[in-house]
Amino acid sequence: MDNFEYRDGRLHCEDMNLERIAEEYGTPLYVYSRDALERAYLDYAQALEGRDALVCFAVKANSNIAVLNVLARLGAGFDVVSLGEIERVVRAGGDPAKVVFSGVGKQAHEIRRALELGIHCFNIESEAELERVSEVATASGMTAKVSFRVNPDVDAGTHPYISTGLKENKFGIAIERARGVYSRAAELPSIEIVGMDCHIGSQLTELRPFLDALDRLLVLVDELADDGIQIKHLDLGGGLGVCYTDEQPPSAAAYIGAVLEKLGDRPLSLIFEPGRSIAANAGVMLTRVEFLKSNGDKNFAIIDGAMNDLIRPALYSAYQEIVPLSLREDGESKIYDLVGPVCETGDFLGKDRELNLQPGDLLAVCSAGAYGFVMSSNYNTRPRPAEVMVSDNQAHLVRKRESIGDLLHGEQLLPKDHY
Ligand code: LLP
Repeated sequence: MDNFEYRDGRLHCEDMNLERIAEEYGTPLYVYSRDALERAYLDYAQALEGRDALVCFAVKANSNIAVLNVLARLGAGFDVVSLGEIERVVRAGGDPAKVVFSGVGKQAHEIRRALELGIHCFNIESEAELERVSEVATASGMTAKVSFRVNPDVDAGTHPYISTGLKENKFGIAIERARGVYSRAAELPSIEIVGMDCHIGSQLTELRPFLDALDRLLVLVDELADDGIQIKHLDLGGGLGVCYTDEQPPSAAAYIGAVLEKLGDRPLSLIFEPGRSIAANAGVMLTRVEFLKSNGDKNFAIIDGAMNDLIRPALYSAYQEIVPLSLREDGESKIYDLVGPVCETGDFLGKDRELNLQPGDLLAVCSAGAYGFVMSSNYNTRPRPAEVMVSDNQAHLVRKRESIGDLLHGEQLLPKDHY
């Protein structure tokens, strides 16, 4: 986490002392570094310089409109999976012409809105969805540019819940069937075939699965050319891993370098849909220790952040570093489980962590900029955290903390005659 470092024993985000930010905005709190987001995006963009390419940030990883806006200003495109995400991109000043629309279950009203906005491409995942896109486009008097998500049947070697490129997964069209689906698309009204896409999984730490998938896609591109179907762009999805603890994923530059080498002088433009590798290490979640407690020989630190605020540890047994905002010189380190106030045994943010803690201490859960706030919920009627972005030596609130009133808004009792 380059933009998060200790200065005189206090953890800073860029030039801001995180303890001061926590005091001002309260905890639990998400804090993002604008500079870290920008640099991670530029790693992709610069590696693609001189090439016809789009880097479409996967909005699902972090959909705060300030985050999207920072990336949009650098020229980013966006990968969206719902109408809500499309509207966020529009609100953030993103260019709809640089939007790709992924996801297995696009609804007619979502397709209509995306057509109206003139998005770059629909990444289609089934024949039924193709028929629907064709019908909606015809009824709207527009042409839909489409790509098919091909499932290349490669093992991404990642956690089963985030591995998507195997036949057994619900995603995409099996590669052996793809040629037939492209032929069908070529016959349908209001459809323009422009691309081919794949996304084989997330948090990949090796290049091999990406390159194996690319090899399989290129064979299909050639077969389609024989059928008279020209693929203009290849969209390789997201998936590049990050360092949470000791992983050593390839850099975006190394990844793109390897892809470009394989492509040689093929006249294909390129799209990438990175999410985690842009946002994860640009953010932390701050939390405060409420109580320390021991049950026999097990020590617990009860913190104010919980699984509803950050679900990755509970859902995927994901490991995220947890560090103090101030390094203590007094006291002693012990091994703690860091647990939240939610009534579930799975409510932990870290297990067996060696920390020197006192009640009231502030902690940072690292690498929380991707799949953090976006996966939060109101379970146990807990208002969701605020989000802050550090930019130019200042901290800016980019999403207010929810209030209990916000949570109750929209609910009502049964009518009186049902009392
Ligand atoms: N494109 C598509 C079609 C995707 O499904 C995804 C992620 C991405 C791009 C972005 O992938 P990334 O570059 O972030 O790996 N909640 C899980 C991750 C789920 C990923 C879902 N798809 C986690 O917290 O680990």
